[in-house]
Amino acid sequence: MNVLFVASECAPFIKTGGLADVIGAVPKALAAAGTDVKVLFPAYPALHALAAGGRSIRRFDDLFGGKAEVKAINAEGLEILLLVAPHLYDRDGNIYLGPDGQDWSDNHLRFAALGCAGAELALDGADGWAPDVVNVHDWQAGLLPAYLSQSGRNTPPVVMTIHNIAFQGLFDASELANLKLKGEMFAADGVEYYGRISFLKAGLALSDKITTVSPSYACELLTPEFGMGLDGLLRERRSDLSGILNGIDLETWNPESDPHLVESYSARSLKRKAANKREVEARFGLQRQDGPLFCVVSRLTSQKGLDMLLECLPSLVAKGAGLALLGSGDSALERQFADASSRHPGQVGVIIGYDEPLSHLLQGGCDAILVPSRFEPCGLTQLYGLRYGTLPVVARTGGLADTVIDANEAALAAECATGFQFAPINATMLEQAIARACATYRQPRIWWAMMRRAMRHPVGWDASAAAYEAIYRSLAAHRAKG
Ligand code: ADP
Ligand code: GLC
Repeated sequence: MNVLFVASECAPFIKTGGLADVIGAVPKALAAAGTDVKVLFPAYPALHALAAGGRSIRRFDDLFGGKAEVKAINAEGLEILLLVAPHLYDRDGNIYLGPDGQDWSDNHLRFAALGCAGAELALDGADGWAPDVVNVHDWQAGLLPAYLSQSGRNTPPVVMTIHNIAFQGLFDASELANLKLKGEMFAADGVEYYGRISFLKAGLALSDKITTVSPSYACELLTPEFGMGLDGLLRERRSDLSGILNGIDLETWNPESDPHLVESYSARSLKRKAANKREVEARFGLQRQDGPLFCVVSRLTSQKGLDMLLECLPSLVAKGAGLALLGSGDSALERQFADASSRHPGQVGVIIGYDEPLSHLLQGGCDAILVPSRFEPCGLTQLYGLRYGTLPVVARTGGLADTVIDANEAALAAECATGFQFAPINATMLEQAIARACATYRQPRIWWAMMRRAMRHPVGWDASAAAYEAIYRSLAAHRAKG
């Protein structure tokens, strides 16, 4: 079976968050089961060299204001299709934001082009390959099913995957013609959303099946609190919605062979984790503490709940614990964490920025990882934490709730705990979870057993790849019959 993935990022080539990790990992897991996935994403400047070595398989004379082409390349175990459109993607800096920190003013055209090019490939195939199913990811690819729908042709079925419903791709209704959408698409069962155009809503309304990245988030999305305005539509389509838990790439994230660690280790040689802790301390200017060393690796946005962590810092340091935070985003949060590190020298270390190798070292060197998100569709850093024996302390929401087993009395007695959860999600309960983690850390026998158990917890893609595959197969079979 042939599947076309369409997304705005793909690891290890271009990444701003978990979306990229997932897009880079699922195709490999599906390939192992015999499904041929090609991934279409834009050729941002970081991909120029790669694109230069690619084979042109499709040309567009005018794709939203300039010439464009699709180039096919095999790299890093993936079959990739790069959308080369210099007028849209040749910009320095962040792939979504201009130097002023605001969205690029033509983001609607940049990502309409992605959907439009994807639709052309879906309809006509290229280079002797045509997809049986298309899987579009997040709002950036959301218009693809709209272009298919208005083509009036027999089209392959589409799965839309929601990685984060907070980003909806909302634009002014007056852009309809610029987006090359027909007037009839501006309707309740099309791209219209409260008088505007929403790329995400278009994808949800016009795709055949909808998935999201954890079972708990799939339930949460049906509520006004988490559905962010789209819960009504999702309730109508609830029989087409499923939650498939994200996994992680077990080769890239492997404490036994990770090149970014100063010392590799396994569940049988956990003592060797200490060398990585010393390196984290050195890099973050931290002194050795009696309590656990917590880390955070995160975008700094209100979703991630790190403002609550700021409130808990006095109590965390009073318990003899330490914190190493790597993150970037909201400038107020960046400043507040930088201030916190000056207030607690040697105990709170902060590095503002985006640093992939350092994110691996933190997983390898810290005792626990904090993920106090207000909502979290899946979350990957807690999964990396499990794999590296870095116990997750998480808010009980979305994929965090589905992947971490809280060290309550029952779970400790049953010897199945892998971390710490807290709910309701507020600073007081986070502080209590941190206190429980600190208390457990002082009982090394229990802590070490939890580390070993966390490392055994299955976090790969096998089960979830099979779930995606089952959806693709049922859609393809249905099409063949129809
Ligand atoms: P989200 O996609 O909402 O940001 P996830 O937990 O799914 O959250 O994925 C975040 C990914 O981005 C992880 O791979 C994490 O290691 C990485 N990441 C986040 N912030 C940074 C950073 N400052 N430096 C390096 N990697 C980061
Ligand atoms: C989004 C979500 C995150 C999820 C990731 C990959 O960025 O915020 O929870 O893990 O997508 O699906």
